[in-house]
Amino acid sequence: MISKATIDQVYETARLEEVIGEFVQLKKSGSNFKGLSPFTDERTPSFMVSPVKQIWKDFSSGKGGNVVAFLMEHEHFTYPEAIKYLAKKYNIEVEETERTDEQKQEASERESMYLVSEFAQDYFSEILWKSGLGKAIGLSYFKERGFTDEIIKKFNLGYCLDQWSGFTAAALEKGYQLNYLEKTGLTIVKENAENPNDPKKFDRFKARVMFPIHSMSGRVLGFGGRILTNDKKAAKYLNSPESDIYHKSKVLYGIYYAKQAIAKEYNCYLVEGYTDVIQFHQRGIENVVSSSGTALTPEQIRLVNRLTKNITVLFDGDAAGLRASLRGIDLILEQGMNVKVCTFPDGEDPDSFSKNNEKDAVLLYLRENSKDFIQFKANLLAEEAVNDPIKRAETVRDIVNSISKIPDAIKREIYIQECARIMNVSEGVLFSTLAQIGKKNQSDASKSARQQQKAFDVVKNELPVDKVDVQYELERKIIELLLLYGNEEQKFEDLVLKENEEGELILEPESSDIKVYEKIYLDLQEDEIELTNEQFRSIYQKLITELNEKEDFTVNAFLIELDQHMISEISSILMEEEKYVLHNWASKDIYPKEKKMVVAQLVSETILSLRCFLIKKRMKELQEKTQDNEDDNRETLEEIMNYLQLNNLLSKKLNRVLS
Ligand code: CTP
Ligand code: MN
Repeated sequence: MISKATIDQVYETARLEEVIGEFVQLKKSGSNFKGLSPFTDERTPSFMVSPVKQIWKDFSSGKGGNVVAFLMEHEHFTYPEAIKYLAKKYNIEVEETERTDEQKQEASERESMYLVSEFAQDYFSEILWKSGLGKAIGLSYFKERGFTDEIIKKFNLGYCLDQWSGFTAAALEKGYQLNYLEKTGLTIVKENAENPNDPKKFDRFKARVMFPIHSMSGRVLGFGGRILTNDKKAAKYLNSPESDIYHKSKVLYGIYYAKQAIAKEYNCYLVEGYTDVIQFHQRGIENVVSSSGTALTPEQIRLVNRLTKNITVLFDGDAAGLRASLRGIDLILEQGMNVKVCTFPDGEDPDSFSKNNEKDAVLLYLRENSKDFIQFKANLLAEEAVNDPIKRAETVRDIVNSISKIPDAIKREIYIQECARIMNVSEGVLFSTLAQIGKKNQSDASKSARQQQKAFDVVKNELPVDKVDVQYELERKIIELLLLYGNEEQKFEDLVLKENEEGELILEPESSDIKVYEKIYLDLQEDEIELTNEQFRSIYQKLITELNEKEDFTVNAFLIELDQHMISEISSILMEEEKYVLHNWASKDIYPKEKKMVVAQLVSETILSLRCFLIKKRMKELQEKTQDNEDDNRETLEEIMNYLQLNNLLSKKLNRVLS
């Protein structure tokens, strides 16, 4: 683990504009830098870097964040990789903290499972390289397969000896707990009838060569183990069971080693298994992953989608599983990706083909034989259905169904034309089939969209497009004020009701010195106002807690501890002023936004505006209620009167603030 001191020093030293400057051409623009978005193809710059705030924002893709977030987005680094990259750039020595026994204990459950898995990876590779049997059996198997030493080391391949519990014993001796060995599936624990306190333990991967499975960021999640004998009863490949750290459906084998190449090549090859991935790498083709025997899932596709829009699925020569696999590909289309398909000659798979051919020959083959998925499917099915009208009708439907999954309307249209040509049917028929399927998809999709509202989609209240959502903007402003000035002490003036000498109630100004966040918190508390926007509410709570606990609160330190979604949202709030011309707001019933307005004034104004807004909203609701209700409206009217008074009071305060 990288020490906290190193991380702090990295953040203190790194200059955002220098780091980004290595990847994006930046031009000075006022107090900021501007450039072309590195995440989209754009002609006019909408990528902003603020040296003052040490924050970047890409208005074309919506991404944004601090220096580490940039490296994670752009270079697909993991967090530690980004820190190490910066440390190297700025000549900062990386201090790694050793884990003590105590820390081992303290580490969370999942963390313990990661640790055990990492130990297992090291142990199995140690056996492979150092032990006599490991070399004689495991290593020689890999060599026979044609794997080089270098590639065996790169993928951390290993061997588990043909013993009942050699690995388990070694792990226990090192102090790893049986509990986690069992939870990760590395050890199978069975009751011992003779001695209940000493259960029987077996190595799950006994006598298998080991393929560690890594996450996007390189952590060991689980293993695949291949048997070396011809035992018909035992499975050729055995995988780790599902666990808290290993979810088959969310993992792609090889993604850690492939991510840079995928982003660079704008394409990802999807193959069947471990050996295909490794053999491709050995040939120097690194943009390759596998779903390891299981059918492709949406989560796996999403992993690739973060890196590229283009995927090429590679199929073995034997066409047996082909039809079935085609279904899974619709999933890829649904996520708006471009899918190509490439099959290998009879009897060959990506593993054997890349083993038997030079890199250039493999690349050439892939280029020449990769076909667009829809065309591929249409051709394949058309052949099968040539003389069978019923089958042909089915086939047409099947293909149009695939086309309907494509989110982009223009692409859909082009495919329909193409498909009409291949299948020899009129475009008209295809378009009307598409429309039918489209309707059904839509109702299914809107259902699931409602269920899985994206974590950080900023939800606005529904309003006509040309109208500003006042409440949304004010809530957002409150977050901005907390971020920028939360910790500043200001003189706040308030109007307080007092009795004068004549016994009349009058409003008198009273001032107090408090911090901005306290003012905001106390005022909102007073009216029991909760922010309605979920994202803002969650940021608000985090901010108030942090400001309350940390004397030396800074936005950058705050950002370090948040997850990427939040960082991105907060950066866009902070960069807001760069994007919008402020006077635009004033005309839309949000009170003036003089940039240089004193902070205290700005804060009071925002809170008061929000309170007024909510009161007006409430009064309107109450009025509607009286209209619906024929009978006794006295109570409601009374409530309205109270709100009216409050509104008058707040308006007075607001006027005072504004004058
Ligand atoms: N695979 C799997 N589970 C199985 C069979 C295969 O996960 N039961 C995956 C493996 O990842 C393997 C790939 O499919 O790399 C290819 O399968 P196969 O060719 O049968 O495996 P090999 O190890 O290449 O075996 P062989 O030497 O017999 O070709
Ligand atoms: Mn094989």
